[in-house]
Amino acid sequence: MTEPDDAFRRYLAAKRTVDDRALDRRVLDRFVAELPDDPAVLEVGAGIGTMVERLDDWGLLPGGLRYTAVDLDERNVDAARDRLRQRGFREDEEDEEGDALAREDIVVEFVADDAVAFARDADRRWDAVVGHAVLDLFDLDDALPALRSAVPGGLCYFSVVFDGETGFEPPLALDDHVLARYHEHLDDGQGSSRAGRRLLTRLPDHGVRVLAAGGSDWVVHPRDGEYPADEAYFLRYLLRTIGGALADEPTLDDAALEDWVETRNRQVAAGELVAVVHNLDVLGRVEN
Ligand SMILES: C[S@@+](CC[C@H](N)C(=O)[O-])C[C@H]1O[C@@H](n2cnc3c(N)ncnc32)[C@H](O)[C@@H]1O
Repeated sequence: MTEPDDAFRRYLAAKRTVDDRALDRRVLDRFVAELPDDPAVLEVGAGIGTMVERLDDWGLLPGGLRYTAVDLDERNVDAARDRLRQRGFREDEEDEEGDALAREDIVVEFVADDAVAFARDADRRWDAVVGHAVLDLFDLDDALPALRSAVPGGLCYFSVVFDGETGFEPPLALDDHVLARYHEHLDDGQGSSRAGRRLLTRLPDHGVRVLAAGGSDWVVHPRDGEYPADEAYFLRYLLRTIGGALADEPTLDDAALEDWVETRNRQVAAGELVAVVHNLDVLGRVEN
């Protein structure tokens, strides 16, 4: 039985198959092709490390790679480390800090920190910065100067950046209102519900030339009444996130919102709910 504390990490693990289908392979392949030999890569908001696992599974980890994965939450960093150990990574004997894991000539180090401050203050440089399903949480005009400063002349690969559209089938009368308020809620903090398209103009404004971009929509649907892998959990977590975000929304009646969330959860249990969430993948190169 998963503890409530582990709900977020289970969600990130469940998201893996949804993201695998969503990623724009043309943008990803261009990213990998543009990496130099023996690259140093910084990942911001790395969660439980599913991006490095994906690159490993897809045979896309370049030889001589040194990968620095930063996440704000120590529990995610611990989970990422445990998961990589299960893939044969072991403590890197040459790492003085003792935080890095290595397998053959690939080294992955983990840092629990604010990734924007880490990138801004680091006295080292990387060849690329990766941010997966996280750029929509940042204030772009604060984050982009810090991230680009960590990769002079290097690459920015920002994948699965939310881009303002969430949809469910079958339709319910309250959908438009709930989803419009949810997107507004995302805009209340530092992040942006339109971060995907905004990157296409904010990157050049911050001296990053866009090399490639494409859609990476989450499309979750049942097959013969069953969801693949742990995607039913992914849907339940998404519904919980929407319900939680709108708990104090004055324009929504509490009972109506509760009914909307319960109806959607029943549709998940019955293998009837379809969810489509629009995201973008963007690859850029920092101009000197
Ligand atoms: C939606 S999750 C995505 C995680 C991972 N990239 C994935 O797709 O599985 C966003 C992650 O960013 C982390 N995060 C949010 N703000 C951060 C910050 N300022 N610095 C570092 N990590 C941050 C969170 O802890 C969380 O793990």
